Amino acid sequence: MADTILIFDTTLRDGEQSPGASMTLGEKVRIALALEAMGVDVIEAGFPAASAGDFEAVSTIAHTLKTSRVAALARAKTVDIESAGAALRGATCPTRIHTFLATSPLHMKYKLNMTPDQVLSAITESVTLARSLVEDVEWSAEDAVRSERDFLFRAVETAIKAGARTINIPDTVGYAMPLEYGDLIAAIKNTVPNMDLAVLSTHCHNDLGLAVANTLSGVQNGARQVECTINGLGERAGNAAMEEIIMAIKTRPDLLPYRTNVDTTHIMGASRLVSGVTGFVVQPNKAIVGANAFAHESGIHQDGMLKHAQTYEIMTPESVGLSRSSLVMGKHSGRAALRDKLTALGYRLSDEELTEAFARFKAIADKKKQIFDEDLIALVDAQRGQADEAIRLHSLHVTCGTTDRPEVRLALSINGQIKETQSTGTGPVDATFRAIGQLVPHQATLQLYQVHAVTQGTDAQAEVTVRLEHNGTTAHGSGANIDTLAASAEAYLQALNKLQAKVQRIGCLAG
Ligand code: KIV
Ligand code: ZN
Repeated sequence: MADTILIFDTTLRDGEQSPGASMTLGEKVRIALALEAMGVDVIEAGFPAASAGDFEAVSTIAHTLKTSRVAALARAKTVDIESAGAALRGATCPTRIHTFLATSPLHMKYKLNMTPDQVLSAITESVTLARSLVEDVEWSAEDAVRSERDFLFRAVETAIKAGARTINIPDTVGYAMPLEYGDLIAAIKNTVPNMDLAVLSTHCHNDLGLAVANTLSGVQNGARQVECTINGLGERAGNAAMEEIIMAIKTRPDLLPYRTNVDTTHIMGASRLVSGVTGFVVQPNKAIVGANAFAHESGIHQDGMLKHAQTYEIMTPESVGLSRSSLVMGKHSGRAALRDKLTALGYRLSDEELTEAFARFKAIADKKKQIFDEDLIALVDAQRGQADEAIRLHSLHVTCGTTDRPEVRLALSINGQIKETQSTGTGPVDATFRAIGQLVPHQATLQLYQVHAVTQGTDAQAEVTVRLEHNGTTAHGSGANIDTLAASAEAYLQALNKLQAKVQRIGCLAG
């Protein structure tokens, strides 16, 4: 049987460290559940010592999941490790503390201000403390790629001696080349005397666009855990994209004779969920999950595809959770057809969610003849984004034109109470956002406003993305509606709801 490569997802930790990608508690739980459903082995849920919000997220996820292992990150500090242990205590799933310390001369000297001997002692102390709190401890050598090899080997040996059972070798700054990284993994495997007691892991950043290549090279040289994120989210240029690693392993068994526990048909759903939650749009030509990843535009390619799909296709869309069916929905389509279609698109909705999605679908179908896959994706993403909002759009009326100053009448539901106002502005979007500001006074500033048509045609839904900022905290929102201004209001309100959750109460936003 082929060796299993353990998938360690760090979308909720390293991914969340991308500027502008912060997520609410509810969103993190939703992503964690999706990762568990797809069969991810280890989910790094956060860094509990970093903030009360991170602590709560790790604790809630560890008390929600059943099968995936939940990892909590900690620096080599007592307070961090105890905080990680406390967040994981009483979990309903297997747990892990992931503790790290830098081993490169640069980091030891300038960042840590520690000698190599002090670093070795700190490794022993931190791993020993972590092992007193949980059975399963992972240790990472931060900036391992730029560390002196002999010292790195000693650090790894020390961590294993203290009880670490996973050793992670990060390319923290995305500096490595594939052959070099593979050679480092092989050298650790062959040199560290107690390496047989622990699993070797990769963690590659994408600064030179080589994160996935380096990860796979690590696997070919003995790593049996890979750290990665959905859509390659992560610090700076991101982390290794999980979907690319998994599909490379699935597609090239001749060169990569391994298996993973992940059900690849969940990939598209997870990608859309993460993109919807973070507002990080997936580029159309992104491998595996980009909108064009399975699109064949040129005549020659289309002709080849019709004759034999494998002429231009190395993996099937179905294998990543995309449907080949071009079934278009219309106003006579029923609830069962909608469920089938959404399942084919990679969404698994509860009965309650389906009931709401069906009502939204009917509302769009009354105005628009044909509903395409993209419409349904926008519809469900918007619904999910609005699921637990305290402030919601109730109604919006706008009059504007080339000669008149725009006028807006807006009603919001705020904690279940309907409140109304009127406003004007330089344009209809400005008037709409001003009206929201009258009902929900705040000082957040608009950092991003983006509109795109979900499908072709003038009857297409508009998908609007908004990013708001307040005192260094950002939140993004998205909305989809046939009416661009209604979509704008929904997106703005979603961002405001998230900011409110982050800043705790709207009073802070107003101050
Ligand atoms: O990139 C890195 O070195 C990390 C460690 C904390 C594992 O994210
Ligand atoms: Zn990292």
